[in-house]
Amino acid sequence: MASSILKLSSTTICTTLAVSASILIFLVIFLFSNQPNCLSMDTFHVRTHQSSLPNDTTNISHLVFGILGSTKTWHYRKSYIESWWRPNITRGYVYLDKAPTDDLLPWSQDSPHFRISDDNTKLLEETKHVSPFMVRMVHASVEIFGDEREGVRWYIMGDDDTIFFVENLVDVLSKYDHTKYIYIGGHSECIASNQIFSYDMGFGGAGLIFSYPLAKMVQKNIENCLGRYPYLGFSDQTLMTCLNDFGVSLSSHPGLHQVLLIKHQFK
Ligand SMILES: *[C@@H]1O[C@H](CO)[C@@H](O)[C@H](O)[C@H]1NC(C)=O
Ligand SMILES: *[C@@H]1O[C@H](CO)[C@@H](O)[C@H](O)[C@H]1NC(C)=O
Ligand SMILES: *[C@@H]1O[C@H](CO)[C@@H](O)[C@H](O)[C@H]1NC(C)=O
Repeated sequence: MASSILKLSSTTICTTLAVSASILIFLVIFLFSNQPNCLSMDTFHVRTHQSSLPNDTTNISHLVFGILGSTKTWHYRKSYIESWWRPNITRGYVYLDKAPTDDLLPWSQDSPHFRISDDNTKLLEETKHVSPFMVRMVHASVEIFGDEREGVRWYIMGDDDTIFFVENLVDVLSKYDHTKYIYIGGHSECIASNQIFSYDMGFGGAGLIFSYPLAKMVQKNIENCLGRYPYLGFSDQTLMTCLNDFGVSLSSHPGLHQVLLIKHQFK
């Protein structure tokens, strides 16, 4: 008897709950149905609605490229960059290890302007980092942030043999929210590399992309982070590790490809 009363009352409670839930759902739908966007959710980093500005679509002038080059290799690498670079349209710089030699002057009008990488001697002494070259590469992301800031949404770091399809890049980046902390990169084409490093790492050869707020965070904290990991000998690995420390993980994009020559990588 007691159990059947209990059963009865729990059924009643269930019915009551179900009815109130329906009323609630109905009210929510009714109250908000005439307000556009009220139920759209900003999940992940992908934009589900445009901002309230009249035309806020990401375009080519919101992108800044930082290319890592060297004086020794530029004369045969520049054709890779000039194949996609658009003088006076694409923004950014190529960072050289030292002033260009005579054979590179006058500097080609079809190339990005050059900058000389910062002297990292002091940083190397402080951090006791194993690889001055890798510190220069990592530090370029700080330098590009200092060199170009006006109206920037995305910083794209590439090597001097990275080829970007700029229109595609603009198209892809316009789908992400540049006001959030976003780190975009691609896996390696070589499975072993992903296993050795990480499946959550953006491989540098394909280009690494930072939203403006993330680039700002990198500028503020990366030197400190280099001191924590002086033994990491790869710039993209260092960046992943530091960004993870900052609480930002990779948004991988399958449109970024890094093809490795295995004999060079693993000999
Ligand atoms: C915003 O600008 C882009 C390119 O500048 C254009 O393709 C697009 O149609 C514009 N959108 C609106 C709503 O005006
Ligand atoms: C890109 O958009 C900005 C507004 O955010 C606008 O001022 C600029 O003229 C646009 N540039 C191009 C090349 O469309
Ligand atoms: C780029 O702009 C400069 C002046 O700012 C001009 O002298 C040069 O011819 C332009 N280059 C191209 C390829 O349009």
